[in-house]
Amino acid sequence: MSSTHFGFETVDEAEKARRVRGVFDSVASKYDVMNDLMSAGLHRVWKACTVTVANLKEGDRALDIAGGTGDLALAFSKKVGKTGQVVHTDINEAMLRVGRDRLIDAGVVLPTVVCDAEKLPFPDRHFDLVSVAFGLRNMTHKDQALAEMCRVLKPGGKLLVLEFSKVAPPLAKAYDWYSFKILPQLGKLVAGDADSYRYLAESIRMHPGQEELKAMMKKAGFGHVDFHNMAGGVVALHVGIKC
Ligand SMILES: C[S@@+](CC[C@H](N)C(=O)[O-])C[C@H]1O[C@@H](n2cnc3c(N)ncnc32)[C@H](O)[C@@H]1O
Repeated sequence: MSSTHFGFETVDEAEKARRVRGVFDSVASKYDVMNDLMSAGLHRVWKACTVTVANLKEGDRALDIAGGTGDLALAFSKKVGKTGQVVHTDINEAMLRVGRDRLIDAGVVLPTVVCDAEKLPFPDRHFDLVSVAFGLRNMTHKDQALAEMCRVLKPGGKLLVLEFSKVAPPLAKAYDWYSFKILPQLGKLVAGDADSYRYLAESIRMHPGQEELKAMMKKAGFGHVDFHNMAGGVVALHVGIKC
């Protein structure tokens, strides 16, 4: 079995999948409140930008991968209307369950599918839009997952990857202090789990930067790829078009 990264550690691939599952099993019930606290609510703005760039229309079909607690799936469902479809997916049942309950509380019932982004159970050329928010970083074979996302998109369809990225150099010192000192403490206090938030900080450092991810998306089959930095590169939204 090949080895890979889990944060700063080198582990074998099965161990990474097991540990990533452990992280999201552990944080699922506190995930939303932690997101608001960690980002001071900014994740809502980043997701709102993603929904704007998605530009979905009535009748469109969208797939949200690693959809977790359902923020994007909920917003997309309002855009595609009754004639469209949004499929809410994640590899982790605990995260999906929290998301499904939130959606039902909001009066929205969507197809909810437990699946691995690296082996999507959907036909070729099926969706107008595929999204993955803060999920790609956790995947073992990112190239395989991106190729799958490309496969299920219709020609002309759009992939949106919202993910932590490389911050602008003037922000780096403060961002490191916040990530490695404050985040784990916050995780311990609110979710009773410092390790998962230490993993978050480490996994961000191991994730490809803006240009590297752009190149990976092109290699996976996207004819046109662009990215937009947000919050000085703390986060980037990559947009890939299947030509
Ligand atoms: C940080 S959460 C993001 C949730 C949601 N998209 C959001 O933005 O709030 C990352 C999600 O990626 C999921 N994930 C990790 N590896 C995955 C894989 N191989 N396939 C699908 N989902 C995966 C996790 O289970 C988790 O729910």
